[in-house]
Amino acid sequence: MLPGQSLLDAALDAGQTIDFSCLTGGCGSCTVRLVEGAKHVALDTPNSVSPADLAAGIVPACITRLTGPVRFSKGSVSLSPAPA
Ligand code: FES
Repeated sequence: MLPGQSLLDAALDAGQTIDFSCLTGGCGSCTVRLVEGAKHVALDTPNSVSPADLAAGIVPACITRLTGPVRFSKGSVSLSPAPA
């Protein structure tokens, strides 16, 4: 993991498989749930994620920047529409 690297890039570099498509936080295909280390993330475009998802640790990995180690889970995690 490199400082400022996206969670998606760090995961792919580590050999993890995460689906992705838009790379802008809009499609939700790379969504993961943070299990540990939420204090080590910052979103490039937080408006694309609802406050409820953020509170639950659900983030699009492509726009989540890392400042330290995190653990996350994949699976049936989907984003809620962000408020307009
Ligand atoms: S690739 Fe679309 S939200 Fe991350």
